[in-house]
Amino acid sequence: AAAEELRTLLLSRIQDVPDYPKPGVMFKDITPLLADAAAFGALTEALAELCVRHRADKVVGLEARGFILAAPAAVRAGIGFVPVRKAGKLPGATLGQAYELEYGTAEIEIHADALEPGDRVLVIDDVLATGGTAEASLRLIRRAGAQIAGVAVLLELGFLDGRGRLLAALDSAPLEAL
Ligand code: PRP
Repeated sequence: AAAEELRTLLLSRIQDVPDYPKPGVMFKDITPLLADAAAFGALTEALAELCVRHRADKVVGLEARGFILAAPAAVRAGIGFVPVRKAGKLPGATLGQAYELEYGTAEIEIHADALEPGDRVLVIDDVLATGGTAEASLRLIRRAGAQIAGVAVLLELGFLDGRGRLLAALDSAPLEAL
């Protein structure tokens, strides 16, 4: 099937890097995929199809690697792109959301006027790990007054159960892992 072919192509272009950024961590490096026009094109096409299927009218990309995937998908789908950034990077009035990391906390922000009530938002990121970043982004989007069309990621690290952590925040919106 086409979905299985896409999956094989994408996986073949993701490089495992052991002990990065810390000993014992297996880093998933997507730069070989981005450098391959056929693979990056197929991924962009698949993400744009998810925008259409889930009737999204905005794409939110999560800094930083999420931006690389989300922006071309938004253009291809003919809808706007909105960045969710690490705290302190957006110039306008923002909404912020803190979330738990393995050690300590992090905070992400969105421009307070970036979304309108009734907007249907697809969140795009490269990797779903613990789900903390995605969960915080869903809270931000709801607080900004918009609806969640879904979350789409290139890679889901199933053993960390980010999907479980996201369940409540998704509120029955789909989580798609390509
Ligand atoms: C990585 C990845 C996701 C997030 C997933 O981003 O790109 O955004 O972590 O982890 P989680 O599901 O446990 O929250 P990172 O914070 O490394 O930022 P970067 O893309 O700017 O390198």
